Amino acid sequence: MAEQTDTAPDGSALGQGAHQGPRHVAIIMDGNGRWAQSRGRPRLFGHHAGAKRVREIVECCPSLGIKYLTIFAFSTENWKRTQVEVAGLMSLFRRYISKEMKALAAKNVRVRFIGDRVRLDAKLIQLMDQLETETAQNDGTHLTIALNYGGRDEVARATKRLAQDVAAGKLSPDDVDEETLPKYLDTHVLPDPDLVIRTSGEARISNFLLWQSAYAEYEFIDTLWPDFTAEELGRLCRQYGTRDRRFGAVKT
Ligand code: FPP
Repeated sequence: MAEQTDTAPDGSALGQGAHQGPRHVAIIMDGNGRWAQSRGRPRLFGHHAGAKRVREIVECCPSLGIKYLTIFAFSTENWKRTQVEVAGLMSLFRRYISKEMKALAAKNVRVRFIGDRVRLDAKLIQLMDQLETETAQNDGTHLTIALNYGGRDEVARATKRLAQDVAAGKLSPDDVDEETLPKYLDTHVLPDPDLVIRTSGEARISNFLLWQSAYAEYEFIDTLWPDFTAEELGRLCRQYGTRDRRFGAVKT
């Protein structure tokens, strides 16, 4: 029988949030390509429409009680797309950051990026740093953008740094446990996601937040990302509130 505990892995009281909305929502924004193709337009047209959708979703978070929003913008596997699409996406990220910087700062959004920056171009990295710095004092919605992110890559990079600390004598192998390892992950300052949503009808997690989503609730919905609305997010949040999260324990 599973052992009963009073707290969830994220430290929140077990059962307390049974009928509350999710505090941390993570979204796999899928379906931009199909949305564009169904309109006879190039895939990048869909990515531009998807980028516009991000603003509405970020803005509705406070009213839905979502404190943390994490979005999957570009995966470590997305480099396999055509050079035209990859270059178009990188240009879109640069433009999005430049264009949205002021509005995000003014709306009290704190932006962070997760993922490996090594393959990203210098201009994009500079804009990412600037956006993180400009919003560092904000305490409203915490928006995390996963860019060149892969869950396995993140765990491998974390393990490498952890091994370096062990080799340097800063950490004992006996101290490596479920509390220590996440401190080396890109997400170390964030709580685990409560709800992971994937749009566009695919029911897989594609290497997104593998460690962090161990106890998340999942929603796989048919809507293509450029059609996803604040209303639909609200519906999913309310649905989440009806779920019974036990974190492996037995309800008394
Ligand atoms: C998946 O759709 C989407 C992506 C790989 C890119 C996500 C990017 C955005 C939503 C736009 C910009 C985001 C920010 C933060 C500015 P897909 O191309 O795999 O669609 P498909 O499955 O229909 O082909």
